[in-house]
Amino acid sequence: MKIAVVGTGYVGLVTGTCFAEKGNEVICIDIDQQKVEKLREGKITIYEPGLTDLFLRNLKEGRLKFTNSLREGVKDAEIIFLALPTPPGENGSADLKYILGVADDLGKIIDNYVVVVDKSTVPVGTADKVKNAIAQHTKVEFDVVSNPEFLREGVAVDDFMKPNRIVIGAESERAKKIMNDLYATFSRAGTPVIYMDIRSAELTKYAANSFLATKITFMNEIAQLCERMGADVDMVRLGIGADERIGKKFLFPGIGIGGSCFPKDIFALVMSANEFDYDFQILNAVMRVNQMQRLHLVTKIKHYFKGNLDGKHFALWGLAFKPNTDDIREAPSLYMIDELLKHGATIRAFDPEAMGNAKKYFGNKISFAENQYDALENADALIIATEWNEFRSPDFQKIESRLKRKIIFDGRNLFENSTMQDQGFHYESIGRAVVE
Ligand SMILES: NC(=O)c1ccc[n+]([C@@H]2O[C@H](COP(=O)([O-])OP(=O)(O)OC[C@H]3O[C@@H](n4cnc5c(N)ncnc54)[C@H](O)[C@@H]3O)[C@@H](O)[C@H]2O)c1
Repeated sequence: MKIAVVGTGYVGLVTGTCFAEKGNEVICIDIDQQKVEKLREGKITIYEPGLTDLFLRNLKEGRLKFTNSLREGVKDAEIIFLALPTPPGENGSADLKYILGVADDLGKIIDNYVVVVDKSTVPVGTADKVKNAIAQHTKVEFDVVSNPEFLREGVAVDDFMKPNRIVIGAESERAKKIMNDLYATFSRAGTPVIYMDIRSAELTKYAANSFLATKITFMNEIAQLCERMGADVDMVRLGIGADERIGKKFLFPGIGIGGSCFPKDIFALVMSANEFDYDFQILNAVMRVNQMQRLHLVTKIKHYFKGNLDGKHFALWGLAFKPNTDDIREAPSLYMIDELLKHGATIRAFDPEAMGNAKKYFGNKISFAENQYDALENADALIIATEWNEFRSPDFQKIESRLKRKIIFDGRNLFENSTMQDQGFHYESIGRAVVE
């Protein structure tokens, strides 16, 4: 099938590449000229495991193309995906200016029946707005469909190619048939394709993200209790996770939920609920707890250094909001770094993939290391903010020889307390006893 994808970021590039891999002819469109030029030259613009090979193969075989021109990109397309940003607006509601701006332009361009698909995460009622924006400029027939994306950065290719489910909100039979054809290879492989009305599809995405964020936040509160009550959150996690009704996943406490989706989607759902005269109390609490949790490790650091961080120097491992991505949007590390700097500390950070983005964000406010051990030189303590695999089994001798003091503050519970005891470190983690 001929597919256009508008917006070539984390979702758009993965969507476009994976549909090309499935044999479709795909054109990805982006407003960012530099990005399009790089992609045309075969240079990938995000770090996502497994994506580069697929991207290069499909580019070479001519199934995957890139353009800045919306008109050129959507010409002949049977399906146009919108994978555009929906960042929080001034009051936290999803800002629809990118989606509605493109919808407006599409109305002036389309000259044949086409299915316009919202892949972005959008509030209930957006499909109607998209429909109106297009319809005010054209008499051409078209349909708007909601097909929310559930991929996770870091495993996006796998998630896209082998999803748990595909959700499609469609109202016309014609659009349903086209979406059915598009996803035929997925349903043949056993993936459930769940058809529903458009509003339910739009809400499904927010409900899924909010539920998952709530689950993690609940465990963060249990971790807070563990620290106060002398219990061990890892034991509690195993104990409750063994109950199938609860499940083992998303029970890991840490330094708060981050990333480009959870925080903004919870906020957007709370604001949408308000518009419909409903106070979503649980999600308001989730947001409050999260604000506190992302500074929880810094609170421990301040406490250890008796409230005086002025002139202290820290090594920081991990900037990305989670491992296997270069994405730092809403990463807890950003909040922690800002707070440490505010109190007069200096920081040398290392992240396997996210330092490029972090340099753009921090400039020279912090320094960046060549590797994880280089970051440690002369630091008063090591702080761990992202659970990259390469941080899990470090050479503790090397850590010891470079740090000024044998202290680790671990926001991701990478090490066993018994190991840290044996290694002789002062070790503070989340929801577990302090190793002195
Ligand atoms: N990142 C994720 O893990 C993820 C997962 C599921 C859903 N989503 C949702 O998908 C949507 C996109 O997220 P993302 O992370 O891919 O965003 P992103 O910021 O990585 O990518 C958006 C792209 O759109 C481009 N763009 C902006 N305006 C444009 C325009 N007028 N025409 C063409 N291109 C334009 C930007 O240059 C950018 O490349 C959001 O609604 C997000 O909530 C994201």
